[in-house]
Amino acid sequence: MSVSGKKILIAVSGGIAAYKIHFLIRDFVKKGADVQVIMTPDAEQFVTKLSLSTLSKKPVYSDFYGENGTWNSHVELALWADVMVVAPCTANTLSKMVHGMCDNLVIATYMSAKCPVLIAPAMDLDMYVHPSTKKNLELAESFGHTIIPAESGELASGLIGQGRMAEPSTIYNVVEKYFQEELHSNNFEGKTFLITAGPTYEAIDPVRFIGNHSSGKMGFSLAEEAAKRGAKVILISGPSAQTIIDPNVDVYRVTSAKEMLAKVFEFYDKIDIGIASAAVADYAPKEVAKEKIKKNDENLTIELVKNPDILKTMGEKKKHQFLVGFALETQNEEENAKGKLAKKNLDMIVLNSLRDEGAGFKNDTNKIKIFTKTEKVEFDLKSKDDVARDILNFVESQLLK
Ligand code: CTP
Repeated sequence: MSVSGKKILIAVSGGIAAYKIHFLIRDFVKKGADVQVIMTPDAEQFVTKLSLSTLSKKPVYSDFYGENGTWNSHVELALWADVMVVAPCTANTLSKMVHGMCDNLVIATYMSAKCPVLIAPAMDLDMYVHPSTKKNLELAESFGHTIIPAESGELASGLIGQGRMAEPSTIYNVVEKYFQEELHSNNFEGKTFLITAGPTYEAIDPVRFIGNHSSGKMGFSLAEEAAKRGAKVILISGPSAQTIIDPNVDVYRVTSAKEMLAKVFEFYDKIDIGIASAAVADYAPKEVAKEKIKKNDENLTIELVKNPDILKTMGEKKKHQFLVGFALETQNEEENAKGKLAKKNLDMIVLNSLRDEGAGFKNDTNKIKIFTKTEKVEFDLKSKDDVARDILNFVESQLLK
């Protein structure tokens, strides 16, 4: 997915990081974006219009008044853009933006813009941590703008700390991600998801249980992403510290596999897409002791009986539903995953191998492979939020077939 054909307005303000903007412009243009650069009068002290216009292949504006008595319309520039990127954004420009101090072309254009605004601050470390900058960044965020945080490192002053503008490649990725999200937004409108998440706890006695290390993060990320794309989500979670506040997500908390099964089938007929990301305990104690078990005996044996397989039951009762399962494997990964795809009557299965570093339960990252009956797609190690995006992009592509 690229930025091809997108109209990107880059506003450069007067900081030494302005020299890095050339790389960003070059990368956008190389990928087919239409780039328009504007700059504050001070930015001209750091970079030239000639170099910026050579790379962007367009005139660069820093003033309301063009040559031969023409007028550079900030309104036209603002309405033209699909996205506005203010980079580098100095403390001064940031302050003017959030307080409406409209004394140059960049601020006038910003105040006329209806498109999303991304801000990459750059300043010395004491300025970056100053309460006024913090407040201004908070204000910018409260306006709905995206802040691309400054990075740590050596600063032009010779000091070392946070304040360096994010690398052009980071800014590029944020912009690209924005367009990806826009592409997928509302594509699940009218669809209902049911997602299982987290571990289940199977009681041994009133104080003990059999459980596992699942954090629930993957399921919550999936719920959040599906809701962001317009879906209504029923999230059924075992004990998990994760929370979610989204009017499109109804969260039901359960404890055991049996409770999860019962909750799933309260909704199953009404859902379009079912994703089972829960790490359901396969076995539960046959009897739950009524009182706390005392440590009287040298050995203790607890008889376990198989829990219901929630996803398999969903597969058996499948009508119109599109079903997605997970497989967490340590050996014969692909074979086992494909086996579960068939055995549980699924449309796709997401494999994470515990052999891959950073994948699985406790990490914030995951590395997955997706299988359908005919396809296999491999993904890089990513944050669970990004993995959720990949999974839902895949679901979307399957539903469109
Ligand atoms: N699953 C489920 N109910 C169970 C067990 C698993 O709904 N009682 C779902 C999981 O949410 C996951 C898929 O089935 O989507 C596969 O889970 P996994 O633990 O990998 O496999 P199992 O079927 O339990 O098989 P095994 O533990 O023998 O590998």
